[in-house]
Amino acid sequence: MVGEIGIDIDRQKCTGCGLCVEVCPDRTISLEDGRAAVTGERCMECGHCLAVCPAEAVAARTIALESLRFNSFEVENRWLKWGDADPAELVRLMASRRSCRNYLDRPVSRDLLEDLVRIGTTAPSGTNSQKWTFTILERRNQVEKFGDRVGLFFRKLNKMAANPLYRLLSRLTGKGELDNYYRRYYDSVSKALDLREKEGRDLLFHGAPAVIVIGSAEGASCGVEDALLASQNILLGAHAIGLGTCLIGFAVSAIKHDPAIKEILAIPRREGVHAVIALGYPAEHYQRLTGRRPPRIRFPEPGE
Ligand SMILES: Cc1cc2nc3c(=O)[nH]c(=O)nc-3n(C[C@H](O)[C@H](O)[C@H](O)COP(=O)(O)O)c2cc1C
Repeated sequence: MVGEIGIDIDRQKCTGCGLCVEVCPDRTISLEDGRAAVTGERCMECGHCLAVCPAEAVAARTIALESLRFNSFEVENRWLKWGDADPAELVRLMASRRSCRNYLDRPVSRDLLEDLVRIGTTAPSGTNSQKWTFTILERRNQVEKFGDRVGLFFRKLNKMAANPLYRLLSRLTGKGELDNYYRRYYDSVSKALDLREKEGRDLLFHGAPAVIVIGSAEGASCGVEDALLASQNILLGAHAIGLGTCLIGFAVSAIKHDPAIKEILAIPRREGVHAVIALGYPAEHYQRLTGRRPPRIRFPEPGE
């Protein structure tokens, strides 16, 4: 039987257990005459109803299972229940992922890049909007061109930051961002730009053969968070596949401030850009895990 909003419930198969009603975040489904029925007006297409149904009575027309088909490995379509994953192995993977700044001169296949995007899109997104976008540079010469354009942006920025008048203006008219930039980054960026121009060294993308730019299309309720969650999935997935990655905040900053860079990447102006990941086969190897600084934790007891 065809529901109104992309969900089909087979009333012959439905046993009326009500599990789909319990897990539906939009209250789209309710029991009618002892069987599940689509009665709500909204559906965020999360697929919880389909995933939970013991009778396989639910189908969702708008959810593509292809997104869980990968080129380089297979995923069993059986839900791993709460507590069934190995937290020790999960944390080992998370802590083993390190920012990679040395890459082999070896391209990454489109198959693997597509797999990474699919891995990214298993992340949650606000109201399940999935409005993330992935712009992929799959060849080193494209990454170099992108790097040249980012370099040009930072050359201009450094020129401005070196001028005390601009820094004063930035203090008077804003929060003194140019001043902060001058103190924190001016010297290191200058050196990196010189090395790029004189010796062809790539301290921006670290010689990576590929780059994924992750953004959000217009209308996402939480576009930044969605993109960053997808990014973290990609970083972890890449490590598992055998690829090194490094987030490149400098490139994000350049894209945000210089619309011409979006243009050369064919990213529409209105699209937000939230992460740039350099990636490739790693030319570095670690012996052990290292820790982090102690985190700032608080357990407030509001109202007491
Ligand atoms: C938002 C963000 C921006 C970053 N930007 C850069 C960058 O531009 N260049 C770089 O080499 N590393 C960059 N990194 C990597 C960090 O330096 C790195 O994550 C941190 O030192 C911890 O090391 P790990 O990733 O190996 O655990 C960035 C990381 C984050 C989270």
